[in-house]
Amino acid sequence: MPASKPPSDAAHGPLRSFGRIKSRAIKPRQAALFDTLLPAIALPDPAAGAIDPLALMPGAKQVWLEIGFGGGEHLAAQAARHPDALMIGCEPFLNGVGSALRHIDEGELKNVRIHTDDARAVVDVLPDASLDRIMILFPDPWHKARHNKRRLIQDDFVGALARVLKPGGRLRFVTDWKDYADWALERFLRTPRLHWLADEADDWRLAPPDHVITRYEEKKLGDTAPIFLELEKR
Ligand SMILES: C[S@@+](CC[C@H](N)C(=O)[O-])C[C@H]1O[C@@H](n2cnc3c(N)ncnc32)[C@H](O)[C@@H]1O
Repeated sequence: MPASKPPSDAAHGPLRSFGRIKSRAIKPRQAALFDTLLPAIALPDPAAGAIDPLALMPGAKQVWLEIGFGGGEHLAAQAARHPDALMIGCEPFLNGVGSALRHIDEGELKNVRIHTDDARAVVDVLPDASLDRIMILFPDPWHKARHNKRRLIQDDFVGALARVLKPGGRLRFVTDWKDYADWALERFLRTPRLHWLADEADDWRLAPPDHVITRYEEKKLGDTAPIFLELEKR
């Protein structure tokens, strides 16, 4: 059983958890997977230096990154749909990691690599233009104004995401907090090379055809219906 630890990353400061890093005992079957499965699919420690995604899965046709995968339902579903793509998932919430390990085990998924800590440290050590897709689904809203600075979406981080996307690569950001959608869009639009793909309201109001409903989304805790922002690096 892993220790409950506050994840941190020296370059970015401590990761402030909106929820909890470990909220309840992890079920025995999932706990066992921390010992049996996680070591085989854990991403190399980003503190050790650059990570070349293609070295993790030689022959991968694409590389995707999901930041804050929660219980891993979306990560596992996309991995099953795209067995030729390497799916990197980052999540510091250990109960979520346990759930994701169960999905990966049950689906016999061979194309997932997991980092059980701060995604920002991973992005820092990925090569330029190395990712095809980045998914940020229902990030912690930090909706009180005095907490906005804790949001994942900050100018420097969006710049880092643009750096690691391939030209033509896509970033999907989804939230059910209106103010966070406005906040994120403002930052995306002022990031060089990122272009918002919406032409009409339905493009951000309706889920894209390949969207997989997440556990957090089902809770409907936000103040609006989900807003889907899809951006492309040009
Ligand atoms: C509101 S939950 C949504 C989880 C999932 N995407 C869903 O829709 O069910 C946001 C998740 O992001 C994770 N998170 C927050 N900051 C993160 C970071 N810097 N790197 C990786 N994950 C992060 C949290 O631990 C939390 O599980």
